[in-house]
Amino acid sequence: MPIDPEDDRVTDGCPYAELYTPEFQRDPKRVYDRMRDAYGPAAPAMLEPGVRGWLVVDYATIVAWCRDTATFSRDARRWNDWRDGLVSDDAGVLGMMEYRPNVLFADGDEHRRLRRAVTDAFGKVDSAETAAYTARTAEALIDGFCQLGEADIVEEYARVLPLLVMNRMFGFDEESGRRFTAALAAVVDAADSGRANAELERIASEIVARKRKHPGDDATSWLMEHRAGLSDEEVLQHLVLVVGAGVEPTADLIGNAVRMVLIDPEFRGDIAEGRVDVEDALEHVLWHEPPMVGYPVMFPVSDVPLANGAVMPAGSPVLLGYAAANRSMAGAPSGEAAAGTANRAHLSFGVGPHRCPAQDLATMIATTALRVLLRRLPEMRPAAGAAEPEWRPSPFARSLARLPVSFTPQAPVQEEAPWKERAVPPDSGEEDGVPVRETLSDLLSMLRRKR
Ligand code: HEM
Repeated sequence: MPIDPEDDRVTDGCPYAELYTPEFQRDPKRVYDRMRDAYGPAAPAMLEPGVRGWLVVDYATIVAWCRDTATFSRDARRWNDWRDGLVSDDAGVLGMMEYRPNVLFADGDEHRRLRRAVTDAFGKVDSAETAAYTARTAEALIDGFCQLGEADIVEEYARVLPLLVMNRMFGFDEESGRRFTAALAAVVDAADSGRANAELERIASEIVARKRKHPGDDATSWLMEHRAGLSDEEVLQHLVLVVGAGVEPTADLIGNAVRMVLIDPEFRGDIAEGRVDVEDALEHVLWHEPPMVGYPVMFPVSDVPLANGAVMPAGSPVLLGYAAANRSMAGAPSGEAAAGTANRAHLSFGVGPHRCPAQDLATMIATTALRVLLRRLPEMRPAAGAAEPEWRPSPFARSLARLPVSFTPQAPVQEEAPWKERAVPPDSGEEDGVPVRETLSDLLSMLRRKR
């Protein structure tokens, strides 16, 4: 019998918490608390009907297990139920869990080789120029809807801003970026992951082929030139990983932060009156509503005995439950201080050798997004009739599907959108007969028509 979030009892015969139900999406914290009460640091979970795993819900356990690379591997080919044919080929979670030859799924020397290529490529990015582009782009996106008096902050702002920054950083043309986002959203939603993954790889391979012919001043070309000698297949896999890893959680952090501003008057007042600066406010969001709540996944190489006498079998998928773990720390004695706004000891960027290599970039994008939005639309409020928040169904991410707001219509402040600054994007493919289109403008007008 699964843990029923409406039921205060957790019985001995209750093996799995269901991480896919609307009840779980509505109040995951309650389910985390009950998992911890019933099982301790790691609890059995059902990721979608028929897909079993474990969720680590304890802070110290995540820290210890992420550092214990002898016991916990990232290589999903060890996944016991998948190897035994117990996971259906059309399981939605496969998009995020299936092995890929990239840094996230690599262990030991291979991980170090790939990670060096990724961090060196990130290191060459001009951070001042990227920050300036991010700020101009945030202004321009708000210009796109500020006269209307209403907007969907998730669809029209939070998802588009990191995408545009990634597009520029990796030298994508806009059409590739737009197709990439649509496919990424399908992977993260754990829906039709086979087709969405194939589309992601198709787009990435087109980009890699163009960059081989015409290298540019961008992170894709730097990955290709790195002395680690990545093959085209490896570069393609890292584009899929890094752009996905960059866009999705950053968009979710912005969305979750804006929602917290809208629903929590004290939080909003603290920022508006300067008691808390925007960067510290985001740390608060990272503690309490982090974007990644059950990802990545680790696989024990041998059976792991647990303190409650249970055994976690070798090859079980072990989801890193950062949200639950942050909560376990925030609830500990002196937890209020631990989870205070300026405290960065949350686990939301991971811990150990795979810890997020782009924390500063992610923080910069989210801080800029929130700062510009609050300055431009200080009166913003939830749109009339906006129902309960709509969370995308995922055991891995805390991700809003929509965030409709209304505000007093404003005049735009910029004349030129930054994404039009380069008349011909560097890998536009004109030479290959692909026409240059104002695809971002198309995307934005499409978003507006949807409303
Ligand atoms: C708010 C935004 C972000 C959050 C919350 C976040 C969080 C994380 C987490 C939890 C991990 C896994 C740590 C582990 O496995 O132990 C990770 C890994 C990673 N992240 Fe981020 N991330 C964010 C933004 C970004 C951005 C903007 C990029 C790239 C431009 C990025 C690139 C990566 C990469 C490449 C890895 C894999 C590192 C490895 O396996 O060694 N992330 N991130």
